[in-house]
Amino acid sequence: MTDTGIRATVPSVPPAPSFPQDRTCPYRPPESYGELAADGPVTRVALYNGRVVWLVTGHAEARALLTDPRVSTSRQNPDFPMVAPRAESQHTVVLPLLGVDDPEHARQRRMLIPRFGLKRVNAMRPQIQAVVDRLLDDMLAAGPGAELVSAYSLPVPSTVICALLGVPYADHAFFEDRSRRLFTAPTAAESTAALDELRDYLRELIARKETGPGEGLLDELIAERLTEGEVDREELVMMAVLLLVAGHETTSNMISLGTYTLLEHPEELAALRADPTLMPGAVEELLRFLSIADGLVRVAVEDFDLGGRTVRAGDGIMISTSVVNRDAAAYDRPEDLDVHRSARHHVAFGYGVHQCLGQNLARAELEIALSTLFRRIPTLRPAVAPDEVAVKPGDTLQGLFALPVTW
Ligand code: HEM
Repeated sequence: MTDTGIRATVPSVPPAPSFPQDRTCPYRPPESYGELAADGPVTRVALYNGRVVWLVTGHAEARALLTDPRVSTSRQNPDFPMVAPRAESQHTVVLPLLGVDDPEHARQRRMLIPRFGLKRVNAMRPQIQAVVDRLLDDMLAAGPGAELVSAYSLPVPSTVICALLGVPYADHAFFEDRSRRLFTAPTAAESTAALDELRDYLRELIARKETGPGEGLLDELIAERLTEGEVDREELVMMAVLLLVAGHETTSNMISLGTYTLLEHPEELAALRADPTLMPGAVEELLRFLSIADGLVRVAVEDFDLGGRTVRAGDGIMISTSVVNRDAAAYDRPEDLDVHRSARHHVAFGYGVHQCLGQNLARAELEIALSTLFRRIPTLRPAVAPDEVAVKPGDTLQGLFALPVTW
């Protein structure tokens, strides 16, 4: 420990560059990350509180680390590094799935996997298409001109995750606001307050469902798992919080940022319009190129070597997915957006046991939302100059606060 009480395990001379940093261009990592990559595949960075941790920038090293049982995702580990003051409150909260290690993690994940498999998700496609069409009908009727995040990219995944879970969409203003605070609040106290309110809301909803069941994954989990004692009530409540939040915040950022990125790359957009069968591959490429979850976090629980460095038990480790997904050893011309490339081996959904549970759903939503938007509004364009596009800060999910568009 240092005299400030901050653990300083990783050698810290010369001074480590700070991480994360803010993007200036919404679809590219900050320029300074190029230097981090040059010092890779594993380098040192300093977090907001001065703590020095490892940063993984190499593709092979990231995949090796994310499948290594000598790292943990448990926020209860006092050495688990946090990227922002707001995240410090996670030390006191047991986050299901994302915040637990195997075998407990595998037990929780097994309960949910069937509902997020390809077959179940494909069966939801007509429902997703109907949501998208209705929102575009409304946007076209009210236009020309709209703010895309509030009119489209947020309500699409919000409506879909509500239907999947059995959460009333009528409550969307409440849970979208608390999720936003959870991800952007300046202090731990404010993000904890938002989490508490989400937890109370879902606890009450689950209690109501126990007496008057409805349709949705939460109802199924109550009937099949809670009643059988396989999951306890508080664990189910926190699972519901995680699924509701992860199910809309992430995909929403990808829809608005993906739209903007394609508008800024007219040749790629033209290729997609000419051949709509390119869309599934284009979605993978956008996931790689945008890497909106740009800072996966782990703590070492044993000593091991990675990318020529010796990681010690207790060391914090970050993975910059935007840099990893631009590793020249894994991709030709990694800085170019190329809708023809095969980008499937990206780590935008993570890798290993914690790889995104909702990835099939996210892919389906992105394919339908982007293809229908560009088909139905062929003259879509940003209504603001590039320097007026409001980019989210580097210490949270990457995306746009708002995207004014016109047609
Ligand atoms: C484009 C949208 C999405 C992106 C980029 C994304 C990204 C990620 C990433 C990077 C992880 C791994 C985190 C880590 O290893 O530390 C993850 C995990 C997770 N995601 Fe997603 N996600 C998206 C959409 C969704 C959706 C729609 C859901 C639906 C509920 C979801 C639910 C989850 C859950 C539950 C986990 C934890 C899995 C586990 O620990 O086993 N995500 N996501």
